Amino acid sequence: MKKVKKAIIPAAGLGTRFLPATKAMPKEMLPIVDKPTIEYIVEEAIASGIEDIIIVTGKGKRAIEDHFDRNFELEETLASKGKLDLLNKINQSSNVEIHYIRQKEPKGLGHAVWCARNFIGDEPFAVLLGDDIVRAEKPCTKQLIEQYEVTGSSVIGVQTVANNETHRYGIIDPFSSSERLYEVSNFVEKPKQGTAPSNLAIMGRYVLTPDIFEFLDLQETGAGGEIQLTDAIQKLNERQNVYAYDFEGKRYDVGEKLGFVKTMIELALENDEIKDDLSAYLVETVESLKVKS
Ligand code: G1P
Repeated sequence: MKKVKKAIIPAAGLGTRFLPATKAMPKEMLPIVDKPTIEYIVEEAIASGIEDIIIVTGKGKRAIEDHFDRNFELEETLASKGKLDLLNKINQSSNVEIHYIRQKEPKGLGHAVWCARNFIGDEPFAVLLGDDIVRAEKPCTKQLIEQYEVTGSSVIGVQTVANNETHRYGIIDPFSSSERLYEVSNFVEKPKQGTAPSNLAIMGRYVLTPDIFEFLDLQETGAGGEIQLTDAIQKLNERQNVYAYDFEGKRYDVGEKLGFVKTMIELALENDEIKDDLSAYLVETVESLKVKS
């Protein structure tokens, strides 16, 4: 069995939910406290044993490439001022070889993944979406890779969502399970409210066999008029088992405003520099809200 060594990070989306902030800045560069969201994703891939990452970018995404490049001028300035802690921070992900490819038209997630097919070749690979940050004892992608190593099949990361949220996600129709691993009869992209076959939602983490590209080659547009990865996964599932794995860990939805702000607060409360002042401020704010209501 070939090992999972490569990962695709699609980052070509327009980020319309965060306009006007994303008019001239990629949404993947929006910081959670002091780190761009995409850096959390790259860190998870590295911690999962991934050796090669390809980021699928689009128009206006140059800042992502600059971020993962070295900045000698900045490094020299920080070194000369003895700011070694900051120097350490900016170098952390620069040691990794990251590749880039452009998605030339915004045709959807399935198409973005398809754009990386030549880089992937004939190997199993991971896909990590930037709208979901997962914090777990064992990195989420690593959990999926371990399941791939047991089953020899594609494995999709899922978690339970509330009934009124299923229409925002790809949803699985499971037919059997052992512990956290499910066999799936159907993968449905963004089912209409009230029609979801379960509450188990695809959470932006995938390990796929390269056979998926055969289906992405032919995949027609689906939900939202886009080429959907979920639809190609369902076609693959009709030929070879695709499993879903209810991964352990907390998932943060940084793809929408409220989720983004909540994530920012939670992670800021762990930041030694600001946590004490921030918690005092939050307590004060909650008290003043109580007085008003
Ligand atoms: C994408 C996938 C969807 C998945 C979601 C997770 O949708 O198509 O299946 O559940 O990511 O964040 P998007 O949010 O890009 O519309």
